[in-house]
Formats: sequence, C-alpha cells, structure tokens
Amino acid sequence: MKLSDDIERVLISAEELEQINGELAQQLSNDYKDKNPIFVCVLKGAVLFLTDLVRKMDSPVEIEFMDVSSYGDGMESSGDVKILKDLDVSVAGRDVVFIEDIVDTGQTLKYLIELFKTRKAKSVKICTLLDKKENRVANINSDYVGTTVPNEFVVGYGLDFAEKYRNLPYIGVLKPEVYEN
Ligand code: PRP
Repeated sequence: MKLSDDIERVLISAEELEQINGELAQQLSNDYKDKNPIFVCVLKGAVLFLTDLVRKMDSPVEIEFMDVSSYGDGMESSGDVKILKDLDVSVAGRDVVFIEDIVDTGQTLKYLIELFKTRKAKSVKICTLLDKKENRVANINSDYVGTTVPNEFVVGYGLDFAEKYRNLPYIGVLKPEVYEN
C-alpha cells in the first residue's frame, strides 16, 4: 500500500516544516545560547521534529528521551498519564525544554511540568510543533509553537494512527474512512 493514498489533504508540506523548524531553532538558539538546556523529547511522535530541530541549532543542547502514555487503548486522551520510560539523568537546577509533536488536550504536558517542578528543574518550557488549541482541557500554554492545527485527525512527520504514517515527510489529514473502519 501507499501511505499517501490514505491522506485526504496535505496540511503542512515538507518545505513548510523545514521553514518552521528553522524559525524555532533560531529562537531557541538565542534564548538558550549560554544555558546548555536539556531537550526532553517525548516519544515517539516528537522524534522526527527533534532531530530536524537540533540540527538547525548552533548552541549546545543535551538530548534526553521520555515515553509517556495517556491514551490507553482509545483515541482520546484519558488524562491518566503513565511513565513508560523515564529520564536517566537528574534535571535539578537545569533548564528543560519539552519537545512535543502536538499538544492536544494538554494533559500530558500538565502532568510532566508538575513532575519536573517537583524534580527541581530550574526552568521548564514547552516547544511543540503543532498546537491543537480547540481540544484543550488542561490549562497549558506552549512557549514555542510551530503552528496551530484544526481539530482534525493529523498524521505524518512523527504522528501516527495505530503506529502507521509516522514516516510521511509532511503533516496530512487522514481520510475518515481509515479510522472509522
Ligand atoms: C501524543 C503527543 C503528546 C500527547 C498529546 O502522544 O505526542 O505526547 O499525545 O496529547 P494530550 O495533549 O491530549 O495529552 P501519544 O500518546 O499519541 O504517543 P506517541 O507520540 O508515541 O504516538
């Protein structure tokens, strides 16, 4: 099968993603040039974004990974966040930036920010490629946002449906018949 056959329309092209990443990388390089921050990539969706973003930065950053789940088996976030893989390093006294592919209900990041405050991080900021504001439940504002997206089923460039479509080079809207079946 061809992944692209399941896509209704392209929302953000590969070229647009490249431009967004360049702008975010420049802002982050400026803001963190002397801070040696820890970029915490929240698996798995943010991996493609992280790797493209940091390659455009010319300031030191450390990269760490966390895996959390708040969806259970359903398509809607449950708010019940579980840590599947934790960090291997201490964040006490460090400047942390969470790298996310999408903020949806905001419940994942609300949980993570509270957690990292108890771990005594010096600062905790959010950098998300996509912001689905319409769906927000938790009171979370991202510090760095690539672009906002409508409340549609978006996949590609890290984002999946049932673990598929992550390797599309663009963000697209999935055809409803794909997830309604
Ligand atoms: C997605 C996304 C965020 C979270 C956002 O991850 O990467 O971590 O959901 O949702 P929220 O704002 O409603 O809490 P997902 O659980 O789908 O895992 P994945 O990145 O491994 O696909």
